[in-house]
Amino acid sequence: MMPAAGAPSTRAPRDQRRIAATARRSSRQESLAESAVLPALPAQSASRLRPPCILVSRDADSYHAPPVPIAAPSRPVVRPCARLLPPAAAGVAAARRKRGDDVWPLRRRGVDFGWVVALQRAPADPRTVERAWRAGEPVFAPGMLGDGPVRHAAAIAQSLRMFDRLRRGGDFLRELERRLADDAHLRYAGSTVDHSDPREIERVFVDAHEGTRKVAEHLWAKLAWIADDGTDRSLRIRFSSGHEQLEDWLQQTAATARWVDEFAARAFPECAAVAGCAPLLATLRTLIARPFRLSERIVYNNAPGGGAVFHHDAEPGQLGVAYNQLEGRTAWLTLAKRRLARLLVRCGAARHERAAMARLDRDGDEALWRLLNRDIAFCQQLSAHGALYVLVAGDSILLPSHGIDDVAWHSVFALGERPSLAHSYGIFPDV
Ligand SMILES: [Fe+2]
Repeated sequence: MMPAAGAPSTRAPRDQRRIAATARRSSRQESLAESAVLPALPAQSASRLRPPCILVSRDADSYHAPPVPIAAPSRPVVRPCARLLPPAAAGVAAARRKRGDDVWPLRRRGVDFGWVVALQRAPADPRTVERAWRAGEPVFAPGMLGDGPVRHAAAIAQSLRMFDRLRRGGDFLRELERRLADDAHLRYAGSTVDHSDPREIERVFVDAHEGTRKVAEHLWAKLAWIADDGTDRSLRIRFSSGHEQLEDWLQQTAATARWVDEFAARAFPECAAVAGCAPLLATLRTLIARPFRLSERIVYNNAPGGGAVFHHDAEPGQLGVAYNQLEGRTAWLTLAKRRLARLLVRCGAARHERAAMARLDRDGDEALWRLLNRDIAFCQQLSAHGALYVLVAGDSILLPSHGIDDVAWHSVFALGERPSLAHSYGIFPDV
């Protein structure tokens, strides 16, 4: 029984096919830190089974192709897509906006970085895209999703309304229950709150069944604040499986991963705008040069004044990340780690590139953290070197992850006056 011996009320009856809000009432009372609640998970038993839907089809032509070789660039391979006006340039910003330019204040958690101006949105040619990807640089893909956001407008609007309710204290399980009420395979299996993580709101578990057979278990959706800061009302929902603290997802079978993807796709139908986007899949097929799946999905609801500080997503087995804007806007600072290191050398934060790379790897470097995340002049430097982007609905940005040193570092800012919606998917080899 999941999630815990001693907490039987967190588990719905075996024959229950719907997520039951009533079952969760007592689970809230039993909420403990995840590490204390979850027992050792048994080995996954679903590896021989397939979910009813495979979201990313295997490309026979690329199946045996070797991985793309990595080459560190000697110079930037990105084009400036946005620029940053200083905070004092409010008059210029207003004039440019009046002229029809896409201009927004760039603010995050009390820091006013100035005004971001979108410059140009012409897609890069395929050769430039491939060079950037190989170099660990981000690939900005304006309009990649085509009319996907329009075709899925109703689901997108529903998700935005759901996040608004959740921000006001709404019930996450009830929201999922509504979304999965008629699902024939996914059954509620408990919910927990990790009180050691101030950002976590609730994690809801489901198991996947085919008839009377359980084919995947310990699948979860976790609702959390993006930042541990009361002024940032940004929310996100991550889909994964197993013990998060033990990083079980790194070991999950492809079949379990597909059920996790199914969980996300059934709870958030607008997933189809990404997972069914032929141009995006074709681009990824070219870049990845092997079969892949889009997993470890995260639904983002970045709220005004919020966003994510600089980080990377280099994880074992993860080839990169595809972030897709479905509604509203976000601004991004993103560039290859090696180029970021060179800029740190230029501004005196390290004596040479190797020292800067090592400094980026170090935990607890408060001075570096402040430089990366709260220093207006350094933000201007990054912008001047082509690392600033503005994403609007329909845009994607692809973040390669070839390893700990060849990965796109990134930082996100919510733009506009209301929370936006985006889906971010990890890119994994499909084996
Ligand atoms: Fe990230």
